[in-house]
Amino acid sequence: MSKNNLSKGLNIVLILCVLVLLIMLKYNKGDVETNITKDEKNTTIETIHERKSVRSYTDKKVTPEQLETIVKAGMAAPTAVNKQPWAFIIIDSRETLDELGEVLPYAKMIKNAPAAIVVCGDMTKALEGQSQQFWVQDCSAATQNILLAVESMGLGAVWTAAYPSEERIKSVTDILELPEHIVPLNVIPVGYPVGTEKPKDKWKPENLHWQKWTKK
Ligand SMILES: Cc1cc2nc3c(=O)[nH]c(=O)nc-3n(C[C@H](O)[C@H](O)[C@H](O)COP(=O)(O)O)c2cc1C
Repeated sequence: MSKNNLSKGLNIVLILCVLVLLIMLKYNKGDVETNITKDEKNTTIETIHERKSVRSYTDKKVTPEQLETIVKAGMAAPTAVNKQPWAFIIIDSRETLDELGEVLPYAKMIKNAPAAIVVCGDMTKALEGQSQQFWVQDCSAATQNILLAVESMGLGAVWTAAYPSEERIKSVTDILELPEHIVPLNVIPVGYPVGTEKPKDKWKPENLHWQKWTKK
């Protein structure tokens, strides 16, 4: 075979390969995309593992737009019977933040935070009877979404509890002038992290069970 014929042959093989690849992309789009995702970095998993409680913040302000983006992530959480039995209060008034930090014994860091989000249960939207208590799980799911959104945006936050402490619920209710049907679950200070806190490794194989409890 002459050099010319060999190069022509190689060109034809190359063109055929490109054609086959294009056909694969057209008809197996799902598979190809799934494979690409597997090979790329999974930013959601990374954010989950990078999240940590952040209790010290720089002076940099967090914008109202950022705070709304964070609350929007909270409202995307799953809720029992899709009741969404919640209300969110964004606070960026220095005076109100200081008042909260003053009365909440385990939330002094609010006094140094530029903003906070209070996640509340709305009893008029909650299920009835025994199922009413689902509001706690629903609002906790929203809280975790909020904490993850914060982490993904380069901000820092910490869940500080109000519910179930009657004293802390009363303090938050009084300061924020909450109506009777609104119960604060927590107060989440948000700010730019000073950078001292690091995520903890909580992976403990002994806490994982497959199939039944006793099976190893
Ligand atoms: C229900 C609940 C209540 C919490 N209350 C407080 C609190 O009042 N003050 C505080 O500083 N941290 C509070 N935390 C944060 C925990 O201390 C923190 O999540 C835990 O030490 C694990 O650390 P990590 O968040 O960095 O993984 C609370 C967390 C949860 C889930």
